[in-house]
This record gives sequence, structure tokens and C-alpha cells, in this order.
Amino acid sequence: MLTTAKRQILVTSALPYANGAIHLGHLLEYIQTDIWVRFQKSCGHECHYVCADDAHGTAIMLRAEQEGITSEALIDRVSREHQADFATFGVAFDNYYSTHSEENRYFSELIYTRLRDKGHIATRDIDQMYDPVKGLFLADRFIKGTCPKCKADDQYGDNCEACGATYTPAELIDPVSAISGATPEVRSSTHYFFKLPDFTDFMHQWINDGHVQPQIRNKLMEWFEAGFNEWDISRDAPYFGFEIPDAPGKYFYVWLDAPIGYLASFKNLCDRQGLDFDAFWHQDSEAEVYHFIGKDIVYFHALFWPAMLHGADFRTPTAVNCHGFVTVNGAKMSKSRGTFIKAATYADFLNPEYLRYYFAAKLTSKVDDLDLNLEDFTARVNSDLVGKVVNIASRCAGFVKKLGDGKLSAHCVEPEMVARFIGAGDEIAELFEAREFGRAMRRVMELADEANTYIADAEPWVLAKQAGREQEVLDICSVGLNLFRQLMVYLAPVVPAMAEGAREFLRLESLDWHSRHEVLLNQKIAKFKPLMTRVEPEKIDAMMAASKEDLVEEQKLKETPKGPLAEAPIADEIGFDDFIKVDLRIARIAKAEYVKGADKLLKLTLDIGGESRTVFSGIRSAYAPEALEGRLTVMVANLAPRKMRFGVSEGMVLASANDEGIYLLSPDTGAEPGQRVT
Ligand code: MSP
Ligand code: ZN
Repeated sequence: MLTTAKRQILVTSALPYANGAIHLGHLLEYIQTDIWVRFQKSCGHECHYVCADDAHGTAIMLRAEQEGITSEALIDRVSREHQADFATFGVAFDNYYSTHSEENRYFSELIYTRLRDKGHIATRDIDQMYDPVKGLFLADRFIKGTCPKCKADDQYGDNCEACGATYTPAELIDPVSAISGATPEVRSSTHYFFKLPDFTDFMHQWINDGHVQPQIRNKLMEWFEAGFNEWDISRDAPYFGFEIPDAPGKYFYVWLDAPIGYLASFKNLCDRQGLDFDAFWHQDSEAEVYHFIGKDIVYFHALFWPAMLHGADFRTPTAVNCHGFVTVNGAKMSKSRGTFIKAATYADFLNPEYLRYYFAAKLTSKVDDLDLNLEDFTARVNSDLVGKVVNIASRCAGFVKKLGDGKLSAHCVEPEMVARFIGAGDEIAELFEAREFGRAMRRVMELADEANTYIADAEPWVLAKQAGREQEVLDICSVGLNLFRQLMVYLAPVVPAMAEGAREFLRLESLDWHSRHEVLLNQKIAKFKPLMTRVEPEKIDAMMAASKEDLVEEQKLKETPKGPLAEAPIADEIGFDDFIKVDLRIARIAKAEYVKGADKLLKLTLDIGGESRTVFSGIRSAYAPEALEGRLTVMVANLAPRKMRFGVSEGMVLASANDEGIYLLSPDTGAEPGQRVT
């Protein structure tokens, strides 16, 4: 039986890049993995769930530069944001780490040197486009030019969006660096390669041994026909990453150290909790290791990664579980349609558990894309979770309170039905184990329908009006709540916060899978609080509008001025009378806080000499809140209050910005809050 023998399981989700916000597409993966992990833990298995930010590479380095901060500062900030988003969505990692860590450096060097010492590393000079202004080699996506086939302008270095042609950057007409605008040169440099062809037989065997889903296996087999090239694992300085031990100025390509980040994060957990790392990663380990990933990164996980591990004498994963992509309302997520929805923006408007349930209801073990249709989302959540499940509890709770003084009956009048609900747990467990969450949810909702039919047929509300039938009413409602409890055990991995509410309501120690075998008799229950409310369609519209706003803010950040006066010429002349209308005051920043869902803003509480003002200011990229507290600045104190999405802003602080950063004005020391500035 699935739930009896105790297993040792390590689970990972792909490591999100540290240069962007978590969005609903990402969340499919983290929610899918989290549900599976919670299910394993519910069954009593030893299960560890680790992840990390994928912190290295050129994109992160350039992004930090654009924001005028160090790469380290960028990845620290993004890590905090990612972790806050995951917590909001109930994604409960046992460890969330970073690939920019000492453990990761250690394992990257270890794996590399083991591969090298066995002759699996080659070096070779290659020609590449080089940006002479930036002093950087340019990846294809950082080169733009005119398409050699259709002559469309402004196309990226590897393919044309206008005609679909693919080519090499060298074939582009008039190529320019997308970073500096300079004309790239071809330069040669030495690169390090992982000799994948050495592992052709191994990889072939591996993907045919049931470690990947059938669709993935078929897809990968096409690759074998084409044969393998050696894999370029080095990048030249400047690069944000780890320097290759025996190769000064050469860095590991981000995709080399990214999967090694799984080992690093787990090692860090082991060190903190006294777990045995080798028991999981030794060649003869009996523990299970699962990677959950999206279909876009399958080559790295199902070919390169097992080959690296095998070549360096580590065990390989038990399975790589691949999922499809999220579409919204039938199309790719789109910024302009408002369907590119960030996790934080969603959570400003809707309960995260709605999304967990909806994804679960649509997930299979296959690789098909998953459409988040927002109308269907509303209908499904309202009808299933609220209309079916919560309804059982809310119909029964009042009578138990009133007629049983909050205590369930001492006996069960429908033992067979309750036993059937308990028995269904075995079948539902198999569906969870097999990642057939949609089928599991359908089975749970069938049971919910049955429970509702039982209550509707028994009509406790009719009996309650008849004298002397109180015990009958209590018996029926006690059955209802026992059935509800079974359902909440099955739903707990999917909607943990709702389950926690149900656990408190039923006053249970736990809702673990096995706990369901005990029928609740004489159980004292707590006051019923609504465990989940209906999805309000207006909130969905507001969320999409806010997602469009996010886009506008992002574009503003991208439009960086060339020279201060050229970009912003001096404004029309005004008289002194006009100027003096602007009431500028010295302000002390009493408090500075992040604003949930706004990645540009800080919320400032300003002291202007006895009066306090709340101001939202777009300076987050430049200042950590702690660094601002206590500092003096200058504010416009008589600006009409502006209602923003996050609250009312009562004024403005004075700051200047260019593409290097943001500069908050501050007076010389000695100025006092509230003093006028003229
Ligand atoms: N950093 C790499 C992964 C390294 S793992 C050693 C990466 N990061 S990512 O941020 O782009 O994506 C993280 C995960 O989210 C990937 O598994 C990716 O497939 C998944 N998704 C990103 N967008 C997605 C959708 N729109 N839909 C479903 N999953 C998607 O790739
Ligand atoms: Zn073209």
C-alpha cells in the first residue's frame, strides 16, 4: 500500500531566474510540486522540498547594471520578493537557497574537476560576436539587425519574428549590440566543453528506463537521431558566476551551475537539520529524487544533468516530471491584454487558494499546456469549493452548535457511507501519487455531491422544526461533518489554508492522510467561520487592469534618457508667485516599507515637524527601506492627495533619476523637519 512503507524523498522545482518577478506561469510548477510534496508528507513519508534562485548569468548582470546596483544587491532583493510570493501561495519549501552560494561553488568545482579528470572536458577556440563598447561577448539574443531573408528591421540574432527565418548572428545585415548599440566585432576566445557524445549510450538508456514521461521520451529520441554536440560550459569575463578553477577569466555558464544548485540547496538543508546528504546522492542511494520542471528546460534536466551526475559519480534522478505551459484565456500570457499576471498582483485581488485549486483541477501527469480560463476559473471555484465543499459544513455546523451544544453525536448512523468515504482515500492517494490531480479533484467532488445529496434528502432543517427529533437532526449533521472531514483530508495538499481552518473548526490534531480512519464521535467542534468565499468577477477585471498598469511602469523604467537637458528641456518660465505656491518642507523619513504588489514603490511615513504624511515613492530600486529610516529629505507638502492602487499618497519627496540610479535630495545636517524650503 502506498501509504504504509516510509519512503525517503527529495523533491525540487526549477530554480527561477533572479531577474524577474514570479508570475502565474511559474506558479503552475511550484503549486504542482508543493501539492505533491504536501501529499507525501501527509502520508508520513520523509520528504524534503528544496529550491533556490538561479542567480548567475549575463541577463542578471545587465539588469543590475541598468538599475544602478550590484548583482549581489539585485539577487538579494529578488530572492526576498520570490520567497514572499511563494509564501503567499502556500508553497512551502524546506529550503530556499541561491546558486550564488559557497555550497554551489563547491559542488560546481567538484563536478567539473571530476569530469575533467576523467577526460570529459575539451577546450577549443571559437569565434563570437563581441561588443567593443561594453567589452562583452554577445549571446545571440543581445544582437539585433536586419533579417537576411525578408529584410525586416530590428530582428534578434537567431531568428526573425517577421518571416520566421533562422540564421546565425553573422548573417544579419547591419548587426548592432542590443546593449550598447555598437557594431559588434568577431573575436576568438577559448571555450570549455562538456563532451556529451561520451554519454550518448548512457543518456539513451536513461531516457528509456522510465525516468521521463512517454511524450518526453519520444521528443528526446528525435535528438538522438541528430546526434550530440559538445556542450559549451564556459563564458568569458565579465560574467556574474563562478570562475572555472583552472581557467582564470573563464566562468561556468549559468546552466552548468543551475542544476547543481539542487545539490547545494539540499546540502545547506542537511547542514542545518543534521540530515545525511550522501544517503540521497550517493551512487547506490535508495532514496527517491524528483525534479519538477517545465517543458522548455527538458534537455538540460533529462539529458545534460543526468550525464553530468553520472560522469561525476553521483546518482541520477528517479524521475524528471515535466509540465506544460500556462495560457490565459486560450492564449500565451500577454502584457498588453493584461494576462501576464504577476503572483503579487494576483494576490492583491484574489485568494491564492483559488488558483491552487484551479490548477489542481486541471493538472494531469502529462505535458499538455494548461489554460487558465478566467470565467471557468470563477465558475469552477465557486461551484466546487464554495458550493459543494464548504456548503456541507455550513449546512451542518449550526445544528450541531444549537442541538448538540457544539458536540457531534456519540454514534454514527451511516457507518457504511462514512466507511466508503474513508476507503476512497486509497484510490485518491494513488491519483495524487501519479500526479493525476485533476482526476483526484473530480473524485473528491463526486464524494462532495454524494454528501450534499445525503443531507438534502435527509432535510435536517425540516426535522429541526418538528418536536422530539433533535437527536435525528444531530445524527444527520454529525454524518455530514464526518464526510466533510474526509474531503478536507483529501483537499488539504491542494488548499492548505482552507484545510487549516477546517482543522480548527473540527478541533483535530491533524488532517494527515491516515487520520481519516478515525470516525469523529462525541467530538466537540468550534464555531463555524466561512472557510472560503466566492470569487468575485469584478476582482478579476481589476487584476487584469492592474497587470496592464504593471506594464506601463516597466516601460517607463526602460526609457532611459540620453543626456539630461536633451531628454528633459528646461520647462516654460514661471513667475515667483507661481513658484512660491509650491510648499516645500524638510521631512524626516520616520518609516519606509515595501508595498506588496508594487515592485517600484516604497511607502514612506514622513515627519514634517509634528505632522505625519504617507507618501508612495518610486525609489524602491535604489534604496533598501532600512537605509532610509531616520534620513532627512525634502517634500512637496501641499500637493493634492492622490489615490493610488495601494493607498493615498499625501505629497511627494524630491528625487532625480538617470539610468545609473535614483538620487533622493537631502538637506545639509542641522535642518529640522517641518522647516520651509525656498
Ligand atoms: N532558471 C531556469 C531553471 C533552472 S533549473 C536548474 C528557468 N527559470 S524560469 O524562471 O524561466 O522558469 C522557472 C520554471 O517555471 C521553469 O520550469 C519553467 O518551465 C516554468 N515556467 C515559466 N513560465 C511558465 C509558464 N508560462 N507556464 C508554465 N511554466 C512556466 O527556466
Ligand atoms: Zn525575416
